[in-house]
Amino acid sequence: MDLLKPLPISLALVTVGVAAFFRILASNRVRLAQAQQDLVNVKLSSSSHVPVAIFVGGTAGIGQGMAEALALKTNGNCHIILIGRNETAAKAIISKFPKPTVPGAKHEFVRCDATLMKNIEQTTKELLARDETEEGMDSKFALAYYGRFKFIRDLTPTLENARRNGEEAKVYMVAGPGRGKYIDWNDLGLKRTKSFLLEFRAQLPLYLDIILQELAARVPFPIVHADPGIVRTTLGSNAVWPVPYILKLIFILCYPWTLSYSESGVYMLRAMLVTAKGSGVWSVGKHGYVLPEGSIHVASEQERRRLWEHTVEETNIKE
Ligand SMILES: NC(=O)c1ccc[n+]([C@@H]2O[C@H](COP(=O)([O-])OP(=O)(O)OC[C@H]3O[C@@H](n4cnc5c(N)ncnc54)[C@H](OP(=O)(O)O)[C@@H]3O)[C@@H](O)[C@H]2O)c1
Ligand SMILES: *[C@@H]1O[C@H](CO)[C@@H](O)[C@H](O)[C@H]1NC(C)=O
Repeated sequence: MDLLKPLPISLALVTVGVAAFFRILASNRVRLAQAQQDLVNVKLSSSSHVPVAIFVGGTAGIGQGMAEALALKTNGNCHIILIGRNETAAKAIISKFPKPTVPGAKHEFVRCDATLMKNIEQTTKELLARDETEEGMDSKFALAYYGRFKFIRDLTPTLENARRNGEEAKVYMVAGPGRGKYIDWNDLGLKRTKSFLLEFRAQLPLYLDIILQELAARVPFPIVHADPGIVRTTLGSNAVWPVPYILKLIFILCYPWTLSYSESGVYMLRAMLVTAKGSGVWSVGKHGYVLPEGSIHVASEQERRRLWEHTVEETNIKE
């Protein structure tokens, strides 16, 4: 047996691996440049209005990336509202946007802790008022599901109105289209489960797929549901030890397959401005293109109605 053989073999393997790593990085650069070019080329249909964009979760991560990409695209001439809890982060982000030069364009922060439905109601009411002139939920589920729904539903009339005035109205959500496994219809809201986190992961994406199909049937504007892939954001950095360190390690090992928040922001904004062209749900992947046929569960009438009734009931404020 030749004892020296394994060494050249492993050297060759490492060389091939390193070459592949850099090839992927090179093709990532080409793909990102294409998305940036697409954003330069796309015309906002409502060019006679100053566009208004609300980023719930715009103070970090993908929301920040999209907000920055939009500020760049519009040269600052956009009304951008960042919603979140961290005002310091919001101010720092806004200070780097190009300064607006047309009336009506402005960049602002609105504080809202979106785990409480009453906070969302107060925030959406405040947002709408400008136009004219401890609720018993798990906080993770509230933020990821009911809160998203409530933001969209409360703002739907104003979006419809904007559309009637010839503006481009769209809803955009970053989550995990097609990643849900099932819904336990006997425990909607996951109130009785004993393994909450496992069930949350297995069920939440399907909740969103189904409720968005029902929402889309009721509104005339596009709803984009995006899977961003793995984005190197602050997500998980507040989790219990050692989760943040494990995440950092994953980010390093998977580097070529991950995106920075600003790269993701470009792909996500392209999906919103270029890909989504008409009513219905647009389920897109990490580069902002529509997911392959069959990726998303098509809900039955009965599934849609049951989830809609449950969700409307849970998100209405009982005083
Ligand atoms: N990163 C990924 O690889 C990935 C993959 C699939 C899906 N996603 C989904 O994409 C979305 C954005 O993820 P990200 O990676 O960009 O996260 P991130 O960097 O952690 O940013 C989260 C954003 O949400 C806001 N937020 C968190 N809790 C809030 C609360 N209680 N009330 C109001 N705002 C709150 C944060 O602002 P404040 O701190 O100012 O409140 C921040 O702006 C998440 O729903 C995530 O599940 C991400
Ligand atoms: C708020 O954002 C700033 C800047 O990104 C960060 O340094 C700080 O830790 C954040 N504060 C909280 C409470 O998350």
